[in-house]
Amino acid sequence: MGGCCIYSGNYLIPPHDEKLTEYKVTMKAIEWLNDRVRIIDQALLPLEEKYIELKDYLSVARAIKDMNVRGAPAIGVAAAFGIALGVKDNKTSDYSKFLVEFNKVADTMAATRPTAVNLFKTVDRMKKLAATIEDVPQLKKLLVDEAIKIHMEEIESTLKISRFGSELIKDGFAILTHCNAGPLATAGYGTALGIMIYAHEHGKKISVFADETRPRCQGAKLTVWELQQANVPVKLITDNMAGYLMHSGKVNCVIVGADRIARNGDTANKIGTYSVAVLAKENNIPFYVAAPTSTIDTSIATGDEIIIEERNAEEVTHINGVRIASEGTEVINPAFDVTPHRYITAIITEKGIIRKPYKEGFGI
Ligand code: MRU
Repeated sequence: MGGCCIYSGNYLIPPHDEKLTEYKVTMKAIEWLNDRVRIIDQALLPLEEKYIELKDYLSVARAIKDMNVRGAPAIGVAAAFGIALGVKDNKTSDYSKFLVEFNKVADTMAATRPTAVNLFKTVDRMKKLAATIEDVPQLKKLLVDEAIKIHMEEIESTLKISRFGSELIKDGFAILTHCNAGPLATAGYGTALGIMIYAHEHGKKISVFADETRPRCQGAKLTVWELQQANVPVKLITDNMAGYLMHSGKVNCVIVGADRIARNGDTANKIGTYSVAVLAKENNIPFYVAAPTSTIDTSIATGDEIIIEERNAEEVTHINGVRIASEGTEVINPAFDVTPHRYITAIITEKGIIRKPYKEGFGI
């Protein structure tokens, strides 16, 4: 079979014939090792490149909550492997008893983070499969295979997104991005960053402005690191510099990832994305969202229905564990915001570049 990707460092290099039929790839971001899951600890990057092995479903749930693994598609993949570990540790051969334990594991995964829909899609998919067959040994194998399939689908989708999205990038473009939507966040090739890496690998001279992305600084810590690994020219900016750069004519387009997209195209992504989108519209700069269809939540009509995660105050009052605000400072810390669809020029999925009206484009 043709079309194998080559695994090189942290990146999937698309094959020359670009038939996306088979992958012999083990991503470093997250890896299934049959009796355990290995992840790169995203909370420590870029200062420390440390891998951790998660041996049971509770450790996977904790790693998602604590953001050792983060980014919507990667959370979905991690949850699939967490459920697979729970399945392996489920010792009963009685189907109804198996289901009780299985549901406990699946529900624990679903309770880790509320906004990225990939997590809930994974849990639903595994639950649906668990309901189809009562032969426990056979079911256990099918569930583990399904988790691996979910990972491979994300790899394949993100490579297709990267290829489609790169058609929008002209030679010489300066692209602004917010948060981190690279290989780490997707357990694949990357969405927003995948497009940039793909365009760069195919000879386009591009450069990137990476928003720092307070409070957790995924832009400063992860996006810059990933682009440097791929030799894509990148400059780090603080979040409040984006408007200045756009107004000075230094930005040709914006590309960001997504955590959940409603039927009308409203998109939840890392807090601050909405401000970037408004600035882009004001300055006539195209604003693209890149996401696999696993991030589209067809059950919700608009972004108003998206639950926004509120994280702990320390992420705002401290930087890397060092207090910057006075004791007792009151804080709000919404981790995401919703960009209304009117600010979004196009949504780049593995099925192609979708423009308004999004509902029709999504085929729903
Ligand atoms: O809180 P995080 O770091 O999990 O948030 C991640 C983002 O908002 C990403 O931009 C999004 O998940 C897209 S990842 C391809």
